[in-house]
Amino acid sequence: MRAFIVLGHRVPLTPDFSLNDLPGSAGRLDILCRCVTAAFCLSHGIRRDVLVYLVLQDQIVVRLEGSRLKHLNPDERSTAALIQKALRAFAENTYKDREIESTPGIFIASGGLSEALQSAQGLGLTVYWLHEHGTPIRHEKLDENAAFVLSDHLEFSPQDVALLKIFPQLSVGPLSLHADHCIVIVHNELDVRFAPASGFSLR
Ligand SMILES: C[S@@+](CC[C@H](N)C(=O)[O-])C[C@H]1O[C@@H](n2cnc3c(N)ncnc32)[C@H](O)[C@@H]1O
Repeated sequence: MRAFIVLGHRVPLTPDFSLNDLPGSAGRLDILCRCVTAAFCLSHGIRRDVLVYLVLQDQIVVRLEGSRLKHLNPDERSTAALIQKALRAFAENTYKDREIESTPGIFIASGGLSEALQSAQGLGLTVYWLHEHGTPIRHEKLDENAAFVLSDHLEFSPQDVALLKIFPQLSVGPLSLHADHCIVIVHNELDVRFAPASGFSLR
């Protein structure tokens, strides 16, 4: 099982944003949508053994579960529409801290990075923090069951850092990349290491 925890520092907490303005009034929701695509979408299929936690302003967690996910397409707009639907369901839910499933495989509840980390650790996943200044991932011994934390277009906040500093910091390369590109690299790194049954080998 792999998980990606993506921090959306400016994504709205209510559904009243335009799907035509994801990089603007939707607070760079386009970045989170691309992360969802990178985490789940294969050329012809969905990675079912993946979880994504989208942490919105450290107040709401949208959790996407590959084993149950339906209606996910590889375009940003339709993914944003699913998240908007989740925020609408959240707005109408009286018990905010009780997770509800807005569409198959998409869950929403109040919570922040701390709750997302607790959930991933509760599933037995080893947490890594993806950061430009981390240890190069290629030579690190990685756990097959792992959760990776990424930020959006903004730096990790001091509150994020306070929670993340206890976890190993990994870098995927010398350049600062888009978060969704980092997810593809991490998937590839783990695919190569942990899918021996396919017969694929780098040697
Ligand atoms: C676009 S970058 C963040 C922007 C950047 N920190 C800044 O403000 O200049 C998005 C996220 O992708 C991850 N990331 C980007 N490049 C990385 C790298 N080389 N190694 C590991 N993670 C990386 C980090 O989690 C980062 O917060």
